[in-house]
Amino acid sequence: MAKQKIIYDCDPGHDDAVALMLAANSPELELLGVTVAAGNQTLDNTARNACHVLQWLGREDVPVYAGCGQPMVRDRVTAGDIHGETGLDGPVFPPLRKTVEREHAVSYLSRALLASEGEITVVTSGPMTNLAMAMRMEPGVVEKIQRIVLMGGSYTNGNVTPAAEFNILADPEAAHVCFTSGRPITMIGLDVTRKVLCYPEIVERMAKADTRASRLFVDLMKHFCKTQKEVFGWEGGPLHDPVTIAFLLDPALVATKPMNVRVDLSRGDSYGRTNCDAFGYLGLPATADVAVDIDAERFWDLIEAGLRRYGGTEADA
Ligand code: RIB
Ligand code: CA
Repeated sequence: MAKQKIIYDCDPGHDDAVALMLAANSPELELLGVTVAAGNQTLDNTARNACHVLQWLGREDVPVYAGCGQPMVRDRVTAGDIHGETGLDGPVFPPLRKTVEREHAVSYLSRALLASEGEITVVTSGPMTNLAMAMRMEPGVVEKIQRIVLMGGSYTNGNVTPAAEFNILADPEAAHVCFTSGRPITMIGLDVTRKVLCYPEIVERMAKADTRASRLFVDLMKHFCKTQKEVFGWEGGPLHDPVTIAFLLDPALVATKPMNVRVDLSRGDSYGRTNCDAFGYLGLPATADVAVDIDAERFWDLIEAGLRRYGGTEADA
């Protein structure tokens, strides 16, 4: 069976890093490229973090493209309270060899999608600035996107304001461009990602894999779970971003419901909220398959299998 081609747009970010681990060596996926934006931290940090993770995993061959350092309209927000000053606080990496490509992420997205036959899935797990800018710069890319699978939003409450989830709130206008693009969308929101909390026993389970990936996973979760406890009081950090990749590996992982989803662009208390019309009140066509439940046990099995696929004990230091 042909591998599913994906471009992964992210803002590493501890959970983005785990999603990268899964995407970078799953037999079912061909990771064509990684594009990064500002989000959890500034662009210089997120770009460097993506390079560190891929180098550690032995996947320096996967190109990393730096994209937008600012949202389309609003002021930039970051999440240092969760991900730290570097955006990937905790792990200590060997000296960095890998560098970002010279081409801008928006240009790469546009070029790769236009050259495709419409077989590329774009996965996003940060602010959707790069993808939205590519759509605006070259409208011809829109029909070439096979599907957008995003981590973001919620049909309940947010995690930065009562209304809004970080990836959407960090660039609501970009999310609006993507949600109104007309392309098939799977929205993996907080409603399901808050059901995969990385409890201490999960970390212990993954540590037993004893691979370079599992060692990085443990170091990442030490920081991520500590800050999630400090900020939200969770006993385990919700492992948001890898749910997007796990969904691609096993679509039955999440239950979804077609809904009309509109991003609130008013500048009030609901700015950045994903208004998901679960009951069709508005009589408008569905614009996304919204995840409403997840098989958490299956998710952790997919994570463990992914970590175990990285042979060897030490990274190519
Ligand atoms: O709200 C959670 C999302 O925001 C995750 O993607 C996390 O990495 C941050 O980007
Ligand atoms: Ca992210």
